[in-house]
Amino acid sequence: MKKITIAIDGYSSCGKSTMAKDLAKEIKYIYIDSGAMYRAVTLYSMENHIFTGQNIDTDKLRHEIKNIQISFHLNQETGNPETYLNGVNVENKIRTLEVSSKVSPISTLDFVRSNLVAQQQLMGKSKGIVMDGRDIGTTVFPHAELKIFVSASPDIRAKRRYNELIKKGQKIKFSEILENIKERDRIDQHRTVSPLKRAEDALLLDNSDLTIDEQKAWLLDQFKRVTAE
Ligand code: DC
Repeated sequence: MKKITIAIDGYSSCGKSTMAKDLAKEIKYIYIDSGAMYRAVTLYSMENHIFTGQNIDTDKLRHEIKNIQISFHLNQETGNPETYLNGVNVENKIRTLEVSSKVSPISTLDFVRSNLVAQQQLMGKSKGIVMDGRDIGTTVFPHAELKIFVSASPDIRAKRRYNELIKKGQKIKFSEILENIKERDRIDQHRTVSPLKRAEDALLLDNSDLTIDEQKAWLLDQFKRVTAE
């Protein structure tokens, strides 16, 4: 069967990663979480005196961006890919609320985006890839054969994220999460470079009232439809 490129874009915390990861496993494609790459650059900036307080030393980051190597390796136990920053596993470190609250300003920087987009295009050059993010169907793979744009209400997304972080033992307030989601939506939609928007040929999926299984079945149907064409 011919391999295709699958682009999944949408708002923060609407389950894109889960659905993209599950689909990739099912159809034996490579899964790439592009958000993890922006998170890794953010973590690097926090740990290397580039992002201090609310300030970003853009000159230093521009200079160091070529030294930031991001890769994904499969965790043999879970079967899921994990994010490595310069050879170190940072999968847990990039998921904290602190990184979440700093990642949007980092992802508005044009040189960060062009660097990561080039890496993402390289990862997908042989197709057989599911990538999720904000600009995958519009900028990274504008010719992807299957594009999905996912949304859900901010309240529902915040509830899901809250439950996920509480399960991981993080101490956080629901209101903080909701605020963070709304702020990220605002920045993602209004930045000048590659703002979050639905590609004209993307299928819309509002999963506010869908279970994971219903969503999975819908996605698999779309995959079968496109690959049968
Ligand atoms: O999917 P996520 O929440 O892990 O993404 C983290 C941040 O990275 C998000 O606030 C927006 C940004 N991002 C982006 O600008 N472009 C992408 N392709 C993926 C993520």
